[in-house]
Amino acid sequence: MNAILCRTKWRIFGVDTDCYRIQQYLQNERVEFFCSDLSAPGVVQRIAQFPIVVNLAAICTPSRYMSQAVTVIRSNYDYPALLAEACQKSGSWLIHFSTSEVYGKTPADSGPLKEDETPLIFGPVQSSRWSYATAKLLTERFVAGLENLRWTMVRPFNFVGPYMDFMPGVDGEGIPRVLANFSTALLKGEPIKLVNGGCARRSFTSVFDAMDFLFDVFASPEKAFYQTFNVGNPENEVTIAELAEKMRRIYAQLRGVSLASIPEPCSIDGEAYYGVGYDDSLRRLPDVEKAERLLGFKASTPLDVVLRESLSWFVDHYGAGTEL
Ligand code: UGA
Repeated sequence: MNAILCRTKWRIFGVDTDCYRIQQYLQNERVEFFCSDLSAPGVVQRIAQFPIVVNLAAICTPSRYMSQAVTVIRSNYDYPALLAEACQKSGSWLIHFSTSEVYGKTPADSGPLKEDETPLIFGPVQSSRWSYATAKLLTERFVAGLENLRWTMVRPFNFVGPYMDFMPGVDGEGIPRVLANFSTALLKGEPIKLVNGGCARRSFTSVFDAMDFLFDVFASPEKAFYQTFNVGNPENEVTIAELAEKMRRIYAQLRGVSLASIPEPCSIDGEAYYGVGYDDSLRRLPDVEKAERLLGFKASTPLDVVLRESLSWFVDHYGAGTEL
């Protein structure tokens, strides 16, 4: 929201289930905010009155994919499909945020994932982890199948940065994604939990790079129509165990304490931690050639920089009274 207000003269109609992180923008005369999800009567039609629609709405927390599979599917297929149809009718350009998880159950030896070539393979239906990814993929297919809808599809690869997710017990419940979860453990002085030893790999991407990507899309609609883009940073690929180690080091520096005073991580079984049906992608490495070729976009923020800024924000935001 801030980037759009600073870099354009556009009006914004924002819809979200809460607004506590954007309070400072709500008085701006170019901002109108409606507190709701996409299921509220008339809301998708109202959104589709705007010429550009960016759909970021989703339940995208893996801990909910098993226990709330139906809600997750509705959030990631039913309502986005309604919004896409509303955009088709109104003539809006739909920029839909899908997920890197549509690449599915990628093995440890998989290579770079290409938007228009890599097969998308999921685990069995009993592995309810894939409820989210299959719903997201169906939305991609639905959007691509709608005639006369101008669309652009985005597959984010683990965006990270300040304001991400929540701290369990403070402003949310359950297990947030890995960065917020590791930050919480560090703040509480508890061991970081490495699911199945932390051998899975991810390519973490600064949310500020992701924003630059979005502006590159805005600037080149003709090149972005009917295209699916990976948005990721292959240079930031790490195992989750390596991520934990980096975060322990940065946290020790931020707090001015020795690394030895920060608890060692421990391993935990995936199904014991998240619930029956949990499964994982073992490697998610984006091929980013297409975004660079068509839009001139390349993510550039190094992992250590984005981890430091995220962890500093987390400590400032939630850390009062937790001096080591
Ligand atoms: C999730 C969503 O399902 C994706 O749609 C989304 O695109 C992606 O986050 C993202 O942020 O872009 P995932 O990468 O599996 O996918 O999400 P995390 O919960 O952040 O987990 C990353 C890895 O860390 C997984 O291997 C997980 O098992 C591990 N993990 C997570 C831990 O080892 N410990 C934890 O406490 C939390």
